[in-house]
Amino acid sequence: MKYKASILIATLIAITLLACETKPQTAASTTEETSVDALVMPEVNEATGLVMDETFPLIIANCTSCHSAKLITQNRATREGWSSMIDWMQATQGLWQFDDHEPQILDYLAKYYGPVETGRRENLRVEEWYEL
Ligand code: HEC
Repeated sequence: MKYKASILIATLIAITLLACETKPQTAASTTEETSVDALVMPEVNEATGLVMDETFPLIIANCTSCHSAKLITQNRATREGWSSMIDWMQATQGLWQFDDHEPQILDYLAKYYGPVETGRRENLRVEEWYEL
């Protein structure tokens, strides 16, 4: 009898602890989801896959005449990284100089095609698959 009672008490304590612990967690993750939703994927141009904003026409005019826009959308780089890719294309691939537009183009590339995608978790890193 004593034994059963202590199991019952232990169970009640466990349930209480669980209830206390899960509540704030759910609240926190809901807020997080809401803030991620606020950053929802920007509108993307269907033909090129490029994000559409006020710089989009500049990107179409300067970055899609030699190669597919996929080279851009599949790449991720910092502003410096994009800058050196542009330098490389200007030095070796016949890309023209942008003059005044370069900062705006770099802002666009770093914002939408920077190293970390906003609103999306990183890919899982699986070190080793286990046999089922
Ligand atoms: C004058 C032609 C030309 C224009 C315009 C041009 N590129 Fe390129 N770009 C190239 C060539 C050529 C390559 C090499 C393609 C290949 O390797 O298949 C290249 C490669 C790339 C790559 C891949 C680089 C790598 O390291 O793999 C990216 C990213 C890129 N371009 C982005 C851009 C962006 C952004 C713009 C506009 C600012 C742009 N390109 C405009 C010619 C151009």
